[in-house]
Amino acid sequence: MAKIAFLGAGAMGQAMIPNLLRGGHSVCVYNRSIDKARLLEANGATVAATIAEAVQGVDALFSMVIDDNASRAVWTGPDGVLDSAASGTLAVESSTVSSNWLRELGGLAAAKGLRFLDCPVAGRPDAAAAAMLVVFAGGKAEDLAAVRPMLEPMSRRIVHFGPVGTGIAFKLIYNVLGAVQVAALAESMNACEAAGIDLHTAADALSDGNTGSPHVKRHSRAMAEGKHDNPIGFTPHGRLKDTLYGCQYQEQIGGQALLGYAAAALFQQMIDIGWGERNDSEAIDGLREESKRRKAKSNT
Ligand SMILES: NC(=O)c1ccc[n+]([C@@H]2O[C@H](COP(=O)([O-])OP(=O)(O)OC[C@H]3O[C@@H](n4cnc5c(N)ncnc54)[C@H](OP(=O)(O)O)[C@@H]3O)[C@@H](O)[C@H]2O)c1
Repeated sequence: MAKIAFLGAGAMGQAMIPNLLRGGHSVCVYNRSIDKARLLEANGATVAATIAEAVQGVDALFSMVIDDNASRAVWTGPDGVLDSAASGTLAVESSTVSSNWLRELGGLAAAKGLRFLDCPVAGRPDAAAAAMLVVFAGGKAEDLAAVRPMLEPMSRRIVHFGPVGTGIAFKLIYNVLGAVQVAALAESMNACEAAGIDLHTAADALSDGNTGSPHVKRHSRAMAEGKHDNPIGFTPHGRLKDTLYGCQYQEQIGGQALLGYAAAALFQQMIDIGWGERNDSEAIDGLREESKRRKAKSNT
């Protein structure tokens, strides 16, 4: 069984780490705010006050933080991973970061002799808690084989796309599709309401037909019932970050991201009304607010 450092105990880390422990691995957790790391002591994790302390003598380390800035801080900050981890350590970036940063990081990690992989994941914290994540892996086959026994207790499927950078490339494209579905659903449900259609009936019919993707099934129910994930599953801030990374990547490789940018605009609208830290499924309420605002403006 492996000795692992897990860097990042946000919503995803909180859900993933207990599965690593259940899988028989030992886990030392570092989180910028140490209180969140301490919550995992009850599951058998140890807590480190610094990244350097967490990665001391480990077989593998995982980073699971919010974005490029956070990832840079974890890997390249003073006493960060690149300064502290021993050459030969399996080093996994699981955060959803931009393709540019991931590729730069892959180069920096390789120069330090780390066995680097990008393994972003699909699945919300509840899927992570149920060990139902899907891992999108990029890296050498032998490094993935070495890290597989650590990924397996957290996931239902591991897909290897190719060398370093391909896991994040797929994840960014996948996220744009997901964001478009959630944003389009919010508009459709809001339009159903304006058309006088009962939202429970709408959710049922949208979920049953060709439109019934897992996103539509899950979020249409939440929108109809007005009952959203608690604790919060994924925020408009997170959605906007993922969607913009994805749109920029698609353009960078010569594609377009017309629909992706439209979805991003809807999440930006939620942030503008102060709802950036709510659930993304509350996008329908964001649209209702916006309609009210427009009506009030046209009445003045
Ligand atoms: N939630 C989902 O549904 C979901 C699904 C799949 C993938 N993801 C991806 O998984 C990653 C983690 O998401 P999450 O939901 O766990 O996010 P989260 O709950 O918001 O937690 C964010 C984590 O990043 C850390 N962090 C933020 N800024 C930092 C900085 N400058 N330096 C060091 N650490 C920093 C936070 O530390 P503090 O506690 O100190 O703030 C915390 O550990 C993201 O890349 C997200 O896109 C999320």
